[in-house]
Amino acid sequence: MLSANSTATPLSSARARRDQRLADRPIASALPTRLRSADLLRLTDQGAEDVLAGKYDHLLPEGGTWPTENRWAVRLSSDDDVDVWLISWVPDQSTELHDHAGSLGALTVLSGALSEFRWTGSELRQRTLEAGDQASFPIGWVHDVMRAPGPYGAVGPDSKPAPSDPTLSVHAYSPPLTAMSYYEVTDHNTIRRTRSQLTDQPEGDLK
Ligand SMILES: [Fe+2]
Repeated sequence: MLSANSTATPLSSARARRDQRLADRPIASALPTRLRSADLLRLTDQGAEDVLAGKYDHLLPEGGTWPTENRWAVRLSSDDDVDVWLISWVPDQSTELHDHAGSLGALTVLSGALSEFRWTGSELRQRTLEAGDQASFPIGWVHDVMRAPGPYGAVGPDSKPAPSDPTLSVHAYSPPLTAMSYYEVTDHNTIRRTRSQLTDQPEGDLK
């Protein structure tokens, strides 16, 4: 569980320990990274702890006012193995159905809740990820993610989230994200890839 009072270890220290642990780990022939889903889950958990502990306050929006109109993100750390991002989500802006090309991914929800619609091979399956929940995304994972509707956090006038009560999640991608593909569901219960784009933005270009 996340706790604002827990003792967090900065990501730089975690990185040093990770490098030592990975030094002798062979690269799986099918994967372009030494990291595994469990590593990414651990990194996003650590990133979430660090955000809650105030270690990234200097990277957060001016005056502590979270955007209410558009998704917002900031990179918490980056190296050859992995990028770690903090994302703030707003209502009615989904990522669209996408994959993360050749990168593994993972997330930890800090506050509020996310809705994820994952393509199972025959249908889109929805789940809600609340504060403290985690998820990992192996290569080939196709999903659409958005701020969950409903009673998660305060909502201001016109259904906008209160600037002081954001939906936040920490994401990790390994190797660092460089491309994504987008999909649509066809009339025959299949998905069709509609476009691919080069991007290093978490969960796609911000909008
Ligand atoms: Fe994604």
